[in-house]
This record gives sequence, structure tokens and C-alpha cells, in this order.
Amino acid sequence: AASVITIDGPAASGKSSIARLVAQRLGRTYVNTGNMYRAMTWAVLQAGVDPKNADAVRAAAADVVIESPVVEGKIQICISGRTLTDAELNSDLVNRAVSLIASVGEVRDRLVADQRALAATGPLVMEGRDIGSVVFPDSPHKIYIDASEEVRASRRGAQGLTDQIAERDRMDKERKNSPLVIPAGAIVIDNSHITLEEAVDQVIAALQL
Ligand code: CDP
Repeated sequence: AASVITIDGPAASGKSSIARLVAQRLGRTYVNTGNMYRAMTWAVLQAGVDPKNADAVRAAAADVVIESPVVEGKIQICISGRTLTDAELNSDLVNRAVSLIASVGEVRDRLVADQRALAATGPLVMEGRDIGSVVFPDSPHKIYIDASEEVRASRRGAQGLTDQIAERDRMDKERKNSPLVIPAGAIVIDNSHITLEEAVDQVIAALQL
């Protein structure tokens, strides 16, 4: 499998913008695994399932056909052949339910297998919560992006979305299945007080490719 640069971090830390630009600069495919969990959440909600009911989530998720083809340097996420829009993936309803859906072991096992399979398509920049710790623990290129809670809340607010960031963080850090951690060997970059460009430069310098 080709090499994978892993980028993990908490909600609204800036990791998606940073990862996308790092991938662009390095000519790698950009993979946002949060969108895979968001798509699964959208499909489960669409099926009318209560996200708190883990058994019902498991059953509904097993019926979901999810594909992640690489299109123009980044992955698209399709549910039953339809590509989900950014508005669907980032809706308030999805924000509220996604950490619950992502705590179900069977959902994670399946999406992690899809994420590992993507490495066969070429060199990647993959971002999420458990990429350096669980999905590609042997990667020599691991980054953890952080930012203060104030900065993260104001960045998400600027996107015009209501997002219970603190609550999602708590669930992502406390869950039993692949909690958010700083992966062993990861370089931590706090981008609270630097620009996006500076953060991208720091990541690329830190990777020593
Ligand atoms: O954009 P933001 O950082 O706020 O969130 P995201 O990366 O889109 O991820 C949404 C949610 O999916 C997270 O809060 C986690 O609960 C879950 N997730 C996960 O469990 N594992 C991943 N590798 C990526 C996301």
C-alpha cells in the first residue's frame, strides 16, 4: 500500500482545511473520514432510527450501501449511489447524532476497512479522530492538529452552524471504541494563533518527507 499521512484532532480544530491544502501541495488524495461517519449518520437518520438505540443503529447501518470513490483528488461519499452534498453532511441533525453513531463498534469496523482499502489507490492525506492510532498505526507520518476551545467554537460559529463541539469532544474522547487520542509518534501542531498558510507550512516541515 502507498504511504499515508495521518492527521487527527478535535472538532473544528482546522484539521480539514489544513489536510486539504497539505494534500493539494503534495499531490496526494485527500480523505476526510469524518464525512464517512457523517454519511452513515445521515443514512441511519433517513431510515428513521433513534441514534441512541445502538441495536437499531447496527441493523440499519448493515443495510446501508456506502461507497467512497476517488474523484479529482479527493473522495466522494455516496449512499446507495447518490453523492451527499456538504449541506447534508454538515446539517444540525447530523452534527447532533454523529458521535453516537461513530461509537458503534460495527460501524467503525466497516468504515476502518474502507479507509485502509483506500491506501491501495495511491498516496493519501487522511484526517479524522483515530487515523494515526487505529487505522494506520504504523505510518511514519503522523500529525495531531489542536486549537483552543474558544478558537474552535468561534471558527465553527463563523460557518453559521450550531454545533455542540464540547459535547462531541467529550463523547469522542470518552468512548470505548477508538477514542480521540494523540497517536504515539504524532507531532502536535496548535494552530490557535497562526494562519492557515502557516499551519500548512508547519505540517509540511514537520513531516520531513
Ligand atoms: O469537522 P469536525 O472536525 O467537526 O468533525 P468531523 O471530522 O466531520 O467528524 C464528525 C464526527 O465523526 C466526530 O465528532 C466523531 O464522532 C466521528 N469521527 C470518528 O469517530 N472517527 C473518525 N476517524 C472521524 C470522525
